[in-house]
Amino acid sequence: MKKEKRIDKKPKKIILVAGARPNFMKIAPIWCEMIKYPDGFKPLFVHTGQHYDDEMSRFFLEDLELPEPDICLNVGSASHGAQTAKIMIAFEKVVNETGPDLVVVVGDVNSTLACALVAVKMHVPVAHIEAGLRSRDRTMPEEINRILTDQISDYLFTTEPAAGENLQAEGIDSGKIHYVGNTMIHSLIRYREKYESSDILKKMNLIQGGYVLVTLHRPKNVDHRETFQEILDVLLKIGKDIPVIFPAHPRTQKRIREFNLSEMISSDHRLRVLDPLGYFDFIALEKHARLVLTDSGGIQEETTFFQVPCLTIRENTERPITISKGTNVLVGTDPDQILKYSRDVLNGRVKRGTIPKFWDDQVARRIVDVIGC
Ligand code: UD1
Ligand code: UDP
Repeated sequence: MKKEKRIDKKPKKIILVAGARPNFMKIAPIWCEMIKYPDGFKPLFVHTGQHYDDEMSRFFLEDLELPEPDICLNVGSASHGAQTAKIMIAFEKVVNETGPDLVVVVGDVNSTLACALVAVKMHVPVAHIEAGLRSRDRTMPEEINRILTDQISDYLFTTEPAAGENLQAEGIDSGKIHYVGNTMIHSLIRYREKYESSDILKKMNLIQGGYVLVTLHRPKNVDHRETFQEILDVLLKIGKDIPVIFPAHPRTQKRIREFNLSEMISSDHRLRVLDPLGYFDFIALEKHARLVLTDSGGIQEETTFFQVPCLTIRENTERPITISKGTNVLVGTDPDQILKYSRDVLNGRVKRGTIPKFWDDQVARRIVDVIGC
């Protein structure tokens, strides 16, 4: 950070927006980097309240050493239209009252698009962290959020080279695109000591490499009874060979109740469905899993960093580097395929990977260097 450039200027007032679980680990390193330079930056942390349960929000603030949010919009859950609109109405007031120099949004959730849209209409520049990722699947709400946010952002910070290519193909000026690496991985490195000292494996009576870790929350996988039940059937089959640990997202838990699937799950103690876990315990489980099965975006990247085998239960991914360089394999949602690939990994046929460039602990510094100029 070139501090001398800002000597006689006021610190830039920068709003950092987070709202959903995967946002907190993406903004935390940026927050920590900005507060090192009080003459350069005055960051304000706005929490939209898209996620609100302690285990989806508050526990992450504590783990990631984020402060209490300066402003909470408390929007809660709603349909896409209603949730996006509520965030916009509340965030417009915040921008009016605080007069920021820049709004920073991360990822691809509804909070990302809503706040970016408010800012650009109020002529406030927008920085998008994790820009340019594309699944090419417009039935995913995240894909719409990504495309639209990128179109209206002034700074586009990317995690992998394909993202920059996508943005240029969509006509975005290459001067706005900055390949800086992955802030989610920056958090992983920053908190290594914390998750290394987690005792979750001991508490759960697990050994390193002796279990499969699962997360599922995509509407396509959990919102349709038949699809979800078929995936659970596969997990029960895998559970015959090795314990399966499944910290379930609130959306997923809701579907388990609605579809009366609790009995099916509890009939077998080798499939252990839990509440969502705190960051350090989850990362400890992720790092030492024999195999991770997921439909999460971030978990595809974290497993690539840890070089843990990951099978993604989706037809596409917006994070192709996890496949070309990492340990990720797209297996789709066909139950026979999920089972076949899982057994391959469990029998030792694992894909080796490498860690992508700039997935290190300097990502926030690179971002702040650009924003500070
Ligand atoms: C959202 C993001 C998704 C991201 C995921 C991360 C969008 C469109 N989707 O999906 O990209 O991968 O977060 O976890 O922004 N709920 C609770 N407590 C909470 C939060 C949610 O019970 O704290 C329940 C509610 O029933 C809610 C449902 O989960 O209706 C879905 O929440 P929502 O934020 O709409 O979408 P996610 O599936 O979490
Ligand atoms: N995560 C966690 N506890 C859990 C599940 C996930 O701490 O029980 C972390 C995970 O390590 C990653 C992030 O949450 O850092 C991913 O969030 P999620 O899968 O909800 O969102 P996505 O990445 O799919 O948008």
